[in-house]
Amino acid sequence: MRHIMVTGGAGFIGSNFVRYMLHAYPEYVLLVYDKLTYAGRLENLEDVAKSYADRYVFVKGDICDKDLVEETIRTHQIDTIINFAAETHVDRSLMAPGSFIQTDVYGTYVLLEAAREFDLERYHQISTDEVYGQVLEGHSREDDPLAPRSPYAASKASGDLMVLAYHESWGLPVTITRGSNNIGPYQYPEKVVALFATNAIDDAPLPVYGDGQQMRDYQHVLDHCTGIDAVLHKGGLGEIYNVGTGSEMTNIAMTKILLATLGKPESLIRYVEDRPGHDRRYALDVSKLRALGWDNAYACDVAIEKTARWYAQNEAWWRPIKSGELYQTYYAKQYAQRLEA
Ligand code: NAD
Ligand code: TYD
Repeated sequence: MRHIMVTGGAGFIGSNFVRYMLHAYPEYVLLVYDKLTYAGRLENLEDVAKSYADRYVFVKGDICDKDLVEETIRTHQIDTIINFAAETHVDRSLMAPGSFIQTDVYGTYVLLEAAREFDLERYHQISTDEVYGQVLEGHSREDDPLAPRSPYAASKASGDLMVLAYHESWGLPVTITRGSNNIGPYQYPEKVVALFATNAIDDAPLPVYGDGQQMRDYQHVLDHCTGIDAVLHKGGLGEIYNVGTGSEMTNIAMTKILLATLGKPESLIRYVEDRPGHDRRYALDVSKLRALGWDNAYACDVAIEKTARWYAQNEAWWRPIKSGELYQTYYAKQYAQRLEA
């Protein structure tokens, strides 16, 4: 494993992962293959391009484009694919599910075919705890049945099943990680913590869906990166590993920690109309990953504080996104009526 193609590497988790890997493994070459959708941004990798010019390559491309995927693998002697590329936001999947099926299902198939064709050493799929559906009690284990409830979660579950089918059918050397909610630097400010932090900094309302008692395992993105690293180097082929802190908190508790960190009042909280089919609780059993010697460095509350401070210190990164027309249109569609009601 030396020449790694990171699909979706210009997005939130992918860009953090590329930075982490280039630092951790001085002998690895990382190629980012990314379509640069609204969520993919070369700015996320600006420092990486400067610091690692000799070991970092960027190719703009769609994972659904079989010819370009194959050409990229051939030209750059790729031996490993790590697939982060996806449409990722539940609320957008409720507005327009088509692109989720295209990228998260069909795109995964294109990459798997290429991995088979070129006899790659490893295909690693980045998946999510959302494939288990909501778990009102207990913690999801890797062999639990899948019960996705949103179009996003259903598309990710389909991708996972296809990855496992390629392992069973042709012995493709695959691994899968299922991460909980990631937070940290460079997250597009549509996901809750990045959205709430940046709204709070501007003294704008924080739209909490429903009663705010939904539970999530908010993990720092760097813990997710070390978890993926552990699975790449120590995981079993054909195996799935959950990645999270193993504990969870309510959205309202998360919101209050965030406001306290930024020194903003709780009066910014607005309870708004709930998301349809809103999963009440996700919770992961991460003992299988811990058995590989991995541990998380940040508890949920510390991850939230650290993340809030990053957004306070990096306005130059998120202000151009939030003031852009694309973002404003999305925000109005998703929140204008909710906040007026
Ligand atoms: P993101 O939306 O920030 O980034 C997605 C990236 O994929 C972007 O750079 C985008 O341009 C790229 N992309 C989208 N469609 C593409 C296509 N057809 N071809 C090539 N590139 C394409 O998402 P993220 O939060 O960084 O998530 C990365 C992965 O991790 C996803 O697979 C997601 O399902 C998974 N995941 C995310 C979380 C989370 O909390 N964010 C948790 C668990 C798992
Ligand atoms: P999100 O960041 O969209 O991640 P996911 O739905 O994939 O877990 O949302 C995290 C939680 O925050 C989820 O319970 C929905 C809630 N939420 C709000 O209350 N308000 C918001 O504006 C958003 C985007 C999410």
